[in-house]
Amino acid sequence: SNIKIEVVKDKVEGGKFAFDHIKKAMEKNALVFGLATGSTPETLYKELRESELDFSDKIAVNLDEYIGIGSEHPQSYAYFMQEQLFNEKPFKETHIPDGLAPEEAEIERYNTVLENNPIDVQILGIGTNAHIGFNEPGTSFDSTTHKVALTDETIEANKRYFESKDEVPKYAYSMGIASIMAAKKIIIMAFGSNKADAIEKTVNGPVTEEVPASILQKHQDVIMIVDEEAASKL
Ligand code: GLP
Repeated sequence: SNIKIEVVKDKVEGGKFAFDHIKKAMEKNALVFGLATGSTPETLYKELRESELDFSDKIAVNLDEYIGIGSEHPQSYAYFMQEQLFNEKPFKETHIPDGLAPEEAEIERYNTVLENNPIDVQILGIGTNAHIGFNEPGTSFDSTTHKVALTDETIEANKRYFESKDEVPKYAYSMGIASIMAAKKIIIMAFGSNKADAIEKTVNGPVTEEVPASILQKHQDVIMIVDEEAASKL
């Protein structure tokens, strides 16, 4: 496939590799950055926070947000982005779905945001079931922004951030697979042995909606940064 794989020793080195790609893209005038949440991009955001890079004329567009919690909620992705990046590195504009907004209008609004701000570089993590954004297995490759019912596997994986499993939102808004594939360049990161199966299927498996990340085999410019554990089944 077209996926360029970079194996690193750990997530700290992975963050540095991803940082270098972002820096190079900025030298080539990248304007719109598609950003991701989860633990995976944290080392990249640390590199960015501690860097000299200036994002004050750049635009950030986030992948997804839980439905039912607002930006003040500490587990919201809006809050995560403030803490991880935006407080330290202000952008000209930041966009993220509003988890408290009514469904139909919010989906339309976010699709307009994406049409008006074509993504130059998209950062991605990956779920243990190979979801990207919150596009769970079975999501159409043609999807744009949509409301997602989170799978039990995803709720299990994300409950560590909440007081109990019951507190984890059951739904989210997510950019669709087509929205992600429209990005000019994609940097996907995965660290740890619990991602090894998802990475193996993404790289070597058939391109199927049952493995959302497998669509990346069809993108022209994908860099995959994986530690040795996540790469162990390749
Ligand atoms: C979450 C997010 C994804 C993220 C994934 C993996 O559900 N919606 O964007 O890539 O799960 O999370 P982590 O990086 O913490 O393993």
